[in-house]
Amino acid sequence: RIIHLADYRPTDFVLERVDLTFELDPTNTKVDARLIFHRREGADPGAPLVLDGDELSLSGLLFDQGEIPASQYDATPESLTIRDLPAQTPFEITITTFINPEANTQLMGLYRTNGIYCTQCEAEGFRRITYFPDRPDVLAPYTITIIADKAANPVLLSNGNFLGGGGYDEGRAFAAWFDPHPKPSYLFALVAGDLGVVEDTFTTMSGREVALKIYVEHGKEARVGYAMDALKRSMKWDEEVFGREYDLDIFMIVAVSDFNMGAMENKGLNVFNDKYVLADPEIATDADYANIEAIIAHEYFHNWTGNRITCRDWFQLCLKEGLTVYRDHEFSADQRSRAVKRIAEVRHLKSEQFPEDAGPLAHPVRPTKYREINNFYTTTVYEKGSEVTRMIATILGPQLFKAGMDLYFERHDGEAATIEDFVKCFEDASGRDLTQFSLWYHQAGTPLVSVSSAFDQPKGVFTLSFEQLVPPTPGQSAKEPMHIPLRFGLLLPDGTEAKPTAIEGAEVTGDVLHLTRRNQVVTFSGIAGRPVVTLNRGFSAPVNVHFEQAPADLAHIARHDADLFARWQAFSDIALPNLVEAARKARDGGEITVDPLLAETLIAVAGDETLEPAFRAQILALPSEADVAREHGSNNDPDAIRAGREAVLSVVAHQGAALFAALFDRNHTRGSFTPDAASAGKRTLRNAALGYLAIAEGTPERAAKAFATADNMTDLSAALTVLAHRFPEAPETEAALESFRARFAENPLVIDKWFAIQATIPGSGALARVERLMESPLFNGSNPNRVRALVGTFAFSNPTGFNRPDGEGYRFLASQILEIDPKNPQLAARILTSMRSWRALEEVRAEHALNALRRIAGAEKLSADVSDIVERMLNG
Ligand code: ARG
Ligand code: ZN
Repeated sequence: RIIHLADYRPTDFVLERVDLTFELDPTNTKVDARLIFHRREGADPGAPLVLDGDELSLSGLLFDQGEIPASQYDATPESLTIRDLPAQTPFEITITTFINPEANTQLMGLYRTNGIYCTQCEAEGFRRITYFPDRPDVLAPYTITIIADKAANPVLLSNGNFLGGGGYDEGRAFAAWFDPHPKPSYLFALVAGDLGVVEDTFTTMSGREVALKIYVEHGKEARVGYAMDALKRSMKWDEEVFGREYDLDIFMIVAVSDFNMGAMENKGLNVFNDKYVLADPEIATDADYANIEAIIAHEYFHNWTGNRITCRDWFQLCLKEGLTVYRDHEFSADQRSRAVKRIAEVRHLKSEQFPEDAGPLAHPVRPTKYREINNFYTTTVYEKGSEVTRMIATILGPQLFKAGMDLYFERHDGEAATIEDFVKCFEDASGRDLTQFSLWYHQAGTPLVSVSSAFDQPKGVFTLSFEQLVPPTPGQSAKEPMHIPLRFGLLLPDGTEAKPTAIEGAEVTGDVLHLTRRNQVVTFSGIAGRPVVTLNRGFSAPVNVHFEQAPADLAHIARHDADLFARWQAFSDIALPNLVEAARKARDGGEITVDPLLAETLIAVAGDETLEPAFRAQILALPSEADVAREHGSNNDPDAIRAGREAVLSVVAHQGAALFAALFDRNHTRGSFTPDAASAGKRTLRNAALGYLAIAEGTPERAAKAFATADNMTDLSAALTVLAHRFPEAPETEAALESFRARFAENPLVIDKWFAIQATIPGSGALARVERLMESPLFNGSNPNRVRALVGTFAFSNPTGFNRPDGEGYRFLASQILEIDPKNPQLAARILTSMRSWRALEEVRAEHALNALRRIAGAEKLSADVSDIVERMLNG
């Protein structure tokens, strides 16, 4: 069944309040839901009340506390329909259901793992708990009572403020919670069990003290310090930058080890995948610390963008996700290096979202139809959604953007809003018409901007000609021109920027050039010498730019632009064509040559001590194999791409060996570990140098020594990665893998790194290794983190290992999908999206991929999640 945005209409009944009582039992939990409704004004007086369910069975139903004749209702696992309800007066419905948390392997609704009860209700998990109008535009205050075995469940948590609790009867305890802020069911949460807690407080800008509590498994309390610190910084930042204050007496985070996603923003009670909470230098890398900071912030920021103002329907998901990702990006940029953060964001966007937008799963940021909403928690909704928000800020400028945000909070607080509501706030605050801009929400596909330039020296006129094209995507063949804001600069040979006396052909505000037409010619007058154009600075628009700039011009930008992001981008633009060409030669034969400017520029920038180490490390990380595949576009041969890239790496490694040795020595962080951005940057640079040195030296010795002497997880895992990826057969590697395993066997989150490092060993041997690792006692096929670390990493991040020309990688994945799907459809569907670019493969691999997809599609019983993905992949 397909759900269409156009079919949206409000419910016939208004939900006034919700009162839930849980009698927790591992296999037979009783749920009593008392719901007070009244018929919406103007609604059909005869309309029945239809509530959603999912695998439910009805055990009791009362109307205003009295019996209700069987003829008045119908209950199926998927719905409860009640007829003949009052036309005007409020009434109360009490529903009793029994559910089995232990048997809930989907990890949606209420489930229990490792002795902990926990919930995940977004998007449609609440209907697995009780019959309910389970949609985001039904908001009500909730009262929750939890009754449970006292010894096994000393902790009983739900949303809102704690009302009270204590002994209930023999051996049982109860706790009651009240959340005064009306919320939709997807924000409901319940956690119960025996957990340790770390406590702190935060005083808000108006002077209220908020209790902060982070719950973890006993024995892990020492690892929540960083998350707590990140939480307090997030709370402060949201007050300072967005004027948003926290609104309950208590804010809680619970870390659980079996969780389908990263984390969930339930009101006052965020539930986290423990991988995004737990950290100490021995187990967490710098990247882990950065992720924890970002995700803690993201979920906290949802309190305003998502909870106080929620979504009218799931088509509006980007209203909360795109905006909240934008907010967490800005937070991390303020806490760390803005330029380096931006480079990392764009790397991620290009490697994840651009392929999605260019393949069969492409969809608009604000889709208009879906079959399974869980499949729309995508990088397009999240990351492109964030970029669209960023473009609004770019187009309006900081003051008007802030005015628009303030208006949004003021106008829609307590409501379930739409993208149109959101955009209208910026239009009203700025007076600017954003109709054309809004196409970013509606048109899928990454726009391609082709640029050419001309300079008329005698007249001093510089001309840029633009053509924009939005490629066709599934269901959208023809596209309108978009409003594309490009930050730019015209660099003069002396390093200064040209200040044109006049600009014609496009609106320019500050350093932003606004493209709005399919073809646009822009002239800049009063230009003394031929300028070098630096375009899309800061990645102001999420577009592909085709601009044949001379490598020397790009090198000029890479070495001198005022915008660090643009320097990195220019360097990529030098590197990518070399890598694509090398891949062609590797496939078709011919000597691989590398433009000397590539190594020269890399060595100059990486060796520039005036630049921060983290930035220089980004330069050393040449475009990835996936980047080359994307640039190449179609008929991709991952083995040739790798061979070509390896050849280029080798040239750079040998030419820069002296520099890399110096960087490796000079950037050693010794002494006590701190996860701050500056120290992290040094480690990234040093470990990038180690990677090149392993190539230049051709022996595992240096990496083995780095492994043996590492005193933190960042350096340890980086050294292990170099050993495993460069010298998979060396005895040093075998020894290091074994020592790592033995040391961390008790810590599944660290063992995930051990799985992931081995799953990404390049080449055709990886599959056998992955299959072997699945037999390891450390692997657990029902834990989503384990499955993602081994199977997911292999399929998403090992281009040569997964895309074997004999198709074995795809056959393996198909078997895995079919095995995971009956237990955990969301996990299966997510991992299957690793094949989203199958059509861009050369024909032999594409044929194997097609057969694997067909095998999945033809399986007897598929979840809606997997069948939706596989069908779109086959037909899109
Ligand atoms: N709202 C959560 C977050 O972004 C993610 C929930 C994911 N839900 C899902 N069904 N995939 O913070
Ligand atoms: Zn989110």
